[in-house]
Amino acid sequence: MDKRVVIKEAFSKLSKFYDILIYLLTLGRIKSLQIQLLRMIKEEGNRLDVGTGTGEILNKSQNRGFKIGIDISFEMLKIAKRKCKDAHFLLADAENMPFKDSLFDTIILSLTYRHLPNRDAFLREVGRILKTEGEIAILDVSKGRFSTILTILMKYFLKPFASLLLGRERWAYFIHSLDKAPTLSEVIEELNSYGFRVKAKKLKYFGLIYLLVAQRKVEASLQIG
Ligand SMILES: C[S@@+](CC[C@H](N)C(=O)[O-])C[C@H]1O[C@@H](n2cnc3c(N)ncnc32)[C@H](O)[C@@H]1O
Repeated sequence: MDKRVVIKEAFSKLSKFYDILIYLLTLGRIKSLQIQLLRMIKEEGNRLDVGTGTGEILNKSQNRGFKIGIDISFEMLKIAKRKCKDAHFLLADAENMPFKDSLFDTIILSLTYRHLPNRDAFLREVGRILKTEGEIAILDVSKGRFSTILTILMKYFLKPFASLLLGRERWAYFIHSLDKAPTLSEVIEELNSYGFRVKAKKLKYFGLIYLLVAQRKVEASLQIG
C-alpha cells in the first residue's frame, strides 16, 4: 500500500486516542516540550503547523498573526477544529501546500518531520512559503540508543494490543517511523542543504527528543527569490 495512505489511515484510526497515547508515551512531558519549542521561536507573525494532528501546538500558541494547521488526516483535523477556535485548519499534504509564496514567519512541526515520505519536496515548499527571514521549528525523536529501546518496546511488548487496535500494517508503520527517524545531525544537514542555519537547538531525555529552530540564510533566500 502507498506509504501516504498507510500514514493517513494509521493517524485517522488513532485520532480519538491520540492525545492520551502521546501523553502516556512521553510520560506526560509532551506539553512542556511543545511549550519549550514555542518559547524558542519568534513571538509574532503568521504561523503554520504542519501535521497539526489534534491542534495542540496551535492551541498553545499565543502569536498575534494568523495560525493555520494542515494535516492529511481529516479525523485528526476534526478534533483540532473543536479544540482550537482561533486557528484555521486545512486538509493538505506537506509536500504540496496550498499557500502563496512568502506567507509565513514560522513553520512548526511537532512529531511530524520523521513521518514525511519526501522531506526534499517538503523543504522546497518551505523555502517557497516562508518569508525571507522566516524560521522552521521542529520537535521530534532522534534515532539513537533510546529510540531503539522504544522500538523494542513497541515491537515486542505493545504489539499484540496495538495491532488489535490499529491493524498490523499500521502498527508496523509506527515502529518503522522510529527505526528510520533521522538523527539531529542528519536533520541539521538536510536543513543546511536547503539554505537554513540553526539558530537554537536542545536535546532532551538522553538525546531521544530534539527541539530545533533554523532560520533562512538571507543569501539563500535572495537566490531563491
Ligand atoms: C505524530 S502526529 C503529530 C501531531 C501533532 N503535531 C502533535 O505534536 O501531537 C503526526 C501528524 O502528521 C500528519 N502527517 C503525516 N504526514 C503528513 C503529510 N505528508 N502532510 C501533512 N500531514 C502529515 C499525520 O496525519 C499526523 O496527524
